[in-house]
Amino acid sequence: MSTQPLLHRYRSFLDLPSHTQIVTLSEGNTPLIPMPRLAEQLGGKFELYVKYEGLNPTGSFKDRGMTAAISEAVGRGAKTVICASTGNTAASAAAYAARAGLRAVVLIPQGKVAAGKLAGAVAYGAQVIQIEGSFDDALHLVVEICQRHPIALVNSLNPYRLEGQKTAAFEICDALGEAPDWLCLPVGNAGNITSYWMGFRQYDQVNQSGLPHVLGVQASGAAPLVLGHAVDHPETVATAIRIGRPARGEQALQAAEESGGRIIAVSDEQILAMQKTLACEGVWVEPASAAGLAGFASEVAAGRIQPKGKRIVAICTGHGLKDPDIVVKSMPAPQLLAVDLATLEEAILTP
Ligand code: F0G
Repeated sequence: MSTQPLLHRYRSFLDLPSHTQIVTLSEGNTPLIPMPRLAEQLGGKFELYVKYEGLNPTGSFKDRGMTAAISEAVGRGAKTVICASTGNTAASAAAYAARAGLRAVVLIPQGKVAAGKLAGAVAYGAQVIQIEGSFDDALHLVVEICQRHPIALVNSLNPYRLEGQKTAAFEICDALGEAPDWLCLPVGNAGNITSYWMGFRQYDQVNQSGLPHVLGVQASGAAPLVLGHAVDHPETVATAIRIGRPARGEQALQAAEESGGRIIAVSDEQILAMQKTLACEGVWVEPASAAGLAGFASEVAAGRIQPKGKRIVAICTGHGLKDPDIVVKSMPAPQLLAVDLATLEEAILTP
């Protein structure tokens, strides 16, 4: 395992300005977990891996881009950073800003941010502002603020976020020795899919590592890239990707097309079912993180992807602990017993 900061490890592949001063929390280097039993369940005879990005320092893939964005911002003397967020970017920006001694301001859609994300942003000391509107409204506002004030924008409109996020593609090629046949991932504001495609192409040019087909997956209630138009009131249980106007939508569509892949939508039911399936394999992810694999499963079931003999990587973008309520709400209250051995025996041994 490398102990080098991510930005050092892949420095020659990252377009970062010379003033960059690395701010790191030892992000990246996440595991690629083999999922043989799940592959079997989905039809078998192929290799399936989950890249578990929920194991980054703040519990999501955002830390890869945030180390880059904050490192650049610090180097150019920024004192305050800002972002709009469905939660994970907020927590990540707050953590890296804290690490760098910067002030962080985060704008979130009212009532639609999962508890673990909001708590993170607060714990890391950000100024958290709720907007009576959607993520898209919040993003619009922060862009305007940054045009008026010397505040650094750390949403994925910031090109350095993409530079950092490319590193996940490099890690996958390094771990497998080449690119997988298919890469499946959730799509919200579309920065991540854009970064992966940039990363795979760049690595292929230097290392001949090959290119995957990219399957981007949106939630059906928030699927502007599938519908071909903006969605004014996006709705999904996967609040991380509850986005109606993806900032990098065009690039996402281009990545899907150039790679011979596509962008599809899955229902909330499919997302939650895959979240449960993954948890039964010991990998608990937040709902949005299950969308990529849910999309892959539905393409396989419909015969639109024939996975036999192929290598598939699904990106699980955030940890299940980010959104505990979604599980807690749907579960029965845990059994409550008296402190009594016989009662316990009966509870365990009676089917
Ligand atoms: N998965 C998770 C867990 C996310 O938090 C996000 C985005 C995505 C997938 C989609 O990635 O936006 O690059 O297409 N979350 C952003 C946020 C919007 O504010 O935390 P994307």
